Amino acid sequence: QRPLLPPPSRDHYRDLNDHAYDIFEKSKCEENRGRTLLSRLQSMVSKTFSHTVKLHLFGSSANGMSLKGGDIDICMLIDDSFGDTDIVIEKLATMLKQNHFTKVLAIPSARVPIVKFKDQVHNLSCDICINNKLAIYNTRLVEDYSCIDDRMRPLVYVVKRWAKRRKINEPFTGTLSSYAYINMVISFLQSREPPVLPCLQQLAFGATSINGKVYGDNLADVTVDGYNCKYYNDLHNLTGFGKHNKETLGELVFAFFEYYARRFNYVTDVVSIRTGHTLPKTSKTWESINKKSHYYFSIEDPFEITHNLARVVKRSHLTMIISEFNRAYKILSRNGNLHIVCREFIHD
Ligand code: GTP
Ligand code: MG
Repeated sequence: QRPLLPPPSRDHYRDLNDHAYDIFEKSKCEENRGRTLLSRLQSMVSKTFSHTVKLHLFGSSANGMSLKGGDIDICMLIDDSFGDTDIVIEKLATMLKQNHFTKVLAIPSARVPIVKFKDQVHNLSCDICINNKLAIYNTRLVEDYSCIDDRMRPLVYVVKRWAKRRKINEPFTGTLSSYAYINMVISFLQSREPPVLPCLQQLAFGATSINGKVYGDNLADVTVDGYNCKYYNDLHNLTGFGKHNKETLGELVFAFFEYYARRFNYVTDVVSIRTGHTLPKTSKTWESINKKSHYYFSIEDPFEITHNLARVVKRSHLTMIISEFNRAYKILSRNGNLHIVCREFIHD
């Protein structure tokens, strides 16, 4: 592990904190983004398929952490009587074209088959997938985490803003999805001393005492597509969980970059919010399409535990991601500005 750098000065921590809240305020969008589009689509789907077919928002437009101009993720829940997923996807694409949506593109062969399109009037890009129940559950898990401590949402916004501007939030070209970054943020917040966030999945397995308070009551299993999705969600009982940790948002921003620039071991460890601590890579077996189960970077999906959220990251892209963490860490250590850290990446 490389040596740690000095933290920012006290004055600079104050600026860093202000700038982080600034980015949060400027990036967040109206609460019910996507809801109007959702209800329009719901009535089309009810007519085209059946009244029993329901659409659900998931991802950032459902967990309240979307950036202005971000995509809308929708999942359609439908039973087998409507035929194969590819047929349903094609039928959806036809429905969207007839209703004057643009750039309609059906991708039935993807891991999660989807149809992509644009709502030109409201300038929204949207994806609809079929029966991705796990995504609805993991969206709820993320949203519940964000309700436990007020520092999580602004930290996620800073990280998403930074990752997008630095061009390392492009899973289609080999870097990480926003969902992967959110898992990295939650794992980091679970690792603070004292922790900012609990581990909701561990709390659901048997009684656990934290700071003299008892949580967990052996909740019933919730099985979705063969995976156990139960977690402790009595949020009322969890308010104030992070209050023993006095770090400011500014201090957490610096510590986040330090954690992934210097402390986390990419060669040996796996990010795992399910367990609340890192796991050794040697303890995991991943689903793999091409018999290759070694990955340069491993982030375990909280429910679909054989799924590595960083599976697309090749060696060269991991180097690029780590060097971005280092760049941010070095700038902040030298009392540089968070707005410079988040400055647009320009290819030379
Ligand atoms: P932005 O679109 O960048 O605003 O962020 P987002 O929060 O919507 O994240 P993203 O688009 O990366 O993912 C949307 C949702 O898809 C997530 O909340 C997850 O529910 C789901 N998702 C994304 N990637 C994966 C993946 O690799 N596996 C699984 N199971 N779900 C995923
Ligand atoms: Mg999204």
